[in-house]
Amino acid sequence: MQKYVIHGGHPLFGEIEISGAKNAAVAIIPAALLVDGCCRIENIPQISDVTVVMEILQELGADVRTINKNTFEIDCRHIRSCRVPDELARRMRASYYLIGALLGRFGEAQVSMPGGCDLGVRPIDLHLKSFKALGADIDLQGGFVYAQAPQKRLTGATIYMDQVSVGATINAILASVLANGLTVIENAAKEPHIVDVANFLNSMGANIMGAGTDVIKIHGVESLHGGTYSIIPDQIEAGTYMAAVAATGGSVLIRNIIPKHMDCITAKLVEMGVEVEENEDTLLVRRTGKLQKTNIKTLPYPGFPTDMQPQITTVLSLAEGTSLVTEGVWGSRYRYVDELKRMGANIQVDDKTAVVEGVDHLTGAPIQAYDLRAGAALVIAALAAHGQSEITQVQYIERGYEDIISKLRALGADIRSVEEPEEAPAANVG
Ligand code: EPZ
Repeated sequence: MQKYVIHGGHPLFGEIEISGAKNAAVAIIPAALLVDGCCRIENIPQISDVTVVMEILQELGADVRTINKNTFEIDCRHIRSCRVPDELARRMRASYYLIGALLGRFGEAQVSMPGGCDLGVRPIDLHLKSFKALGADIDLQGGFVYAQAPQKRLTGATIYMDQVSVGATINAILASVLANGLTVIENAAKEPHIVDVANFLNSMGANIMGAGTDVIKIHGVESLHGGTYSIIPDQIEAGTYMAAVAATGGSVLIRNIIPKHMDCITAKLVEMGVEVEENEDTLLVRRTGKLQKTNIKTLPYPGFPTDMQPQITTVLSLAEGTSLVTEGVWGSRYRYVDELKRMGANIQVDDKTAVVEGVDHLTGAPIQAYDLRAGAALVIAALAAHGQSEITQVQYIERGYEDIISKLRALGADIRSVEEPEEAPAANVG
């Protein structure tokens, strides 16, 4: 087990390159199952969630070739099985995309209920409802989803999402791309990675219109062909480094971003007194003065992203005055607050709202990451804090942040990843 040791209090300066988007990659890689040819995919982030989904494809019979650190060729012409190994599927939430992709291409799928970060209740009823609307038989038994299409092919339908869901929208797209006829997804999610998945599939011959709006129309096609595609930059990784600069002070040029995707985050940081200068594919983020309070509610895109809530709450814990943060997507996403309190933050959580009373500074402490974004928030807290912090359970952070240690060190942060000694065996007192 690794842990991060961080000596805080150093402002960040320099340039940082943003990697490909995790939540696009974990959908686009399974989407390669729909393609009758070889997909060359570029700008894939090197993170553990990607490693898991690549392993799953290989287990199913895909030929995966590494071209370089961030480019892979995936050929799914010789898939042997539609049964996703249980142990791998449970390691990530996005394994639910295997259901839509396998069902869409081969008319059957067997996948265990997905794992992933603990953000409260995480149902997949909307995914299953979409598959059923397309004609699939769905059976839930012993923690597995068994999905089957009549005569191996789904039929287009109108799917109304009761709730805006990123995963269910993408899964409905995956299942319907090769279906017979027209599918219409209403009340679709609009996140940048939904557009990216649709662009990937369209570049391989699919006919998807309206991705990025709340109505998506998919005309089913007979087959998809191979091609080359490059994944968009990660909005949340970029936002996390923006938040880090806001918390520590300093000035950092964030490269390889799509500024439009950053608007919802930039607007809030500017309200807090952070200077953000936008260029074609970079943002210059600078914080010299005091941070100011603000109120934030997380919402589906283009609202403020829930995946930035822990990081922005951490920054607000250092702002002047009292801020209110409301979680509008997940039932519970405040487990990290107790860790911030150990560092001196003054935050009270009542159900979905956190009341954040800014403090003058945080103090380093031993702290634990409970999930990916909570872990990123603790890194930010530790970078800004006086003294040394040690963060354990960093495997959560490495699910979603490529080269986080070297990227931060290049900005002047004092952060190291060290091997945690094995726990000593309990003394025999018997
Ligand atoms: C995606 O999760 C992301 N994960 C999450 O990012 C992100 O927090 C979330 O979207 C919201 O933006 C991936 O892309 C792999 P949802 P997803 O379906 O698709 C309810 C991160 O840190 N819901 O949009 O699973 C659900 O309970 C991760 O990178 C149902 O009720 O989220 C939630 O309240 C964590 N039934 C809301 O919808 C369903 O069938 C939105 O969830 C599905 C969802």
